[in-house]
Amino acid sequence: MGNRYRKPTTFRCNAGSRFSKSAMVWSLVGFLLLLHLYSLVSRTNGFGREIRFRKSHSPLLRELEEVEEENIQLPPQRGRRSPRAAKRRPRRTTTLIDEFLDENSQLRHIFFPGMKTAIDPMKNLGNDSFYYHPGRVWLDTEGNPIQAHGGCMLYDKRSETYYWYGEYKDGPTYHSHKKGAARVDIIGVGCYSSKDLWKWKNEGIVLPGEETNETHDLHKSNVLERPKVIYNEKTGKYVMWMHIDDANYTKAAVGVAISNDPTGPFDYLYSKRPHRFDSRDMTIFKDDDGVAYIIYSSEDNSELHVGPLTEDYLDVTNIMRRILINQHREAPALFKYQGTYYMITSGCTGWAPNEALAHAAESVMGPWETVGNPCIGGNKMLRLATFFAQGTYVIPLPGLPGSFIFMADRWNPADLRDSRYIWLPMIVGGPADRPLEYNFGFPLWSRVSIYWHRKWRLPLGWSVQK
Ligand code: GAL
Repeated sequence: MGNRYRKPTTFRCNAGSRFSKSAMVWSLVGFLLLLHLYSLVSRTNGFGREIRFRKSHSPLLRELEEVEEENIQLPPQRGRRSPRAAKRRPRRTTTLIDEFLDENSQLRHIFFPGMKTAIDPMKNLGNDSFYYHPGRVWLDTEGNPIQAHGGCMLYDKRSETYYWYGEYKDGPTYHSHKKGAARVDIIGVGCYSSKDLWKWKNEGIVLPGEETNETHDLHKSNVLERPKVIYNEKTGKYVMWMHIDDANYTKAAVGVAISNDPTGPFDYLYSKRPHRFDSRDMTIFKDDDGVAYIIYSSEDNSELHVGPLTEDYLDVTNIMRRILINQHREAPALFKYQGTYYMITSGCTGWAPNEALAHAAESVMGPWETVGNPCIGGNKMLRLATFFAQGTYVIPLPGLPGSFIFMADRWNPADLRDSRYIWLPMIVGGPADRPLEYNFGFPLWSRVSIYWHRKWRLPLGWSVQK
């Protein structure tokens, strides 16, 4: 007993073991203090300095991790005011968010570039081939803007094809009543297929809305959002989960549909409130062991709930944990890297953009800890508004460990069908920049970084690993 305390150590010096022990303790304390100081400094330095710490862990990724700054000048404020009026009520300063939300803003073309700049992968774009241009109109192989909002990606091993599912919103935007959110009637879930994640073929509407039966969940006057599709190896079925609601978002349910084929048609099965709780923004995550989970905003969006699905993925089980309680997060997008689970969420501001946060956990069921705002580059406003977008899904990139594509929607509430896609490279690596509640201020998790790019492409030669 006690021998282990007397073991000679490399810190031992001539002054005897007592001194060596205290020297060791003090060195440890010093080291911990230094670490703590480092974590504080990296917190207060703001985005500019932090960027210098980032290192590419692979030459392939260097381009993805380039930090691009954006200098968007606010236009001069409109209308003249007398000095007296200005003194009485100083004008509220306009922010980039105000400009973004203003349909008549002079900066509109920056946030929503016109058709002239649309990306048409069927044209010979020369050196521009395979480049993503976040925010520009993105055309399918028939030359029509892709309609797959609030979407997800399924890589189907059987057909070695990517399927992009999302809300098909190609209809007029209106408000069902004065205070109601901008909406488009349910048209259905759109599906696009691709071999390279760039050129997308329209596979049609794989789950259509209902035109006549007003009592049907999918009646056009209702809401179908954030469809997510996973494949069940045991049953050989493709299962779709989605947010089902009425126009006022009071039904707050999830819906389930099933198909034998990734391109549908999907049969709509039913809707329910999972675990008897209200459920709005949601996603589905399938783990490596085949267990799938649902994650949804609940208790009026104040917290998220997570729970495993049944083996056939057609229902929830009665296991559920509350996570990120009182944090008011939505639009969850989950992924896993080196045994750790990560999630990107948004705040709850409807169609208006807000700050994304990354979270990490050792188990899908939690506890989940917040590791900070993942957005890098652009400018402060872009970072605080998730590049004027809201996350929806994270695509793992086989063959590029630690690299992902962050899929987000730049909503256009004035004309929802014209909402844009913001796809950006996302890298997991390096220390998190926010000390966490449970670990005495030392970053435990890796940092999640989403890099802003005006244009970017996957590394040359990247292709799906079979
Ligand atoms: C957002 C949500 C979207 C949609 C929108 C309606 O907060 O993420 O999916 O529901 O609100 O205003």
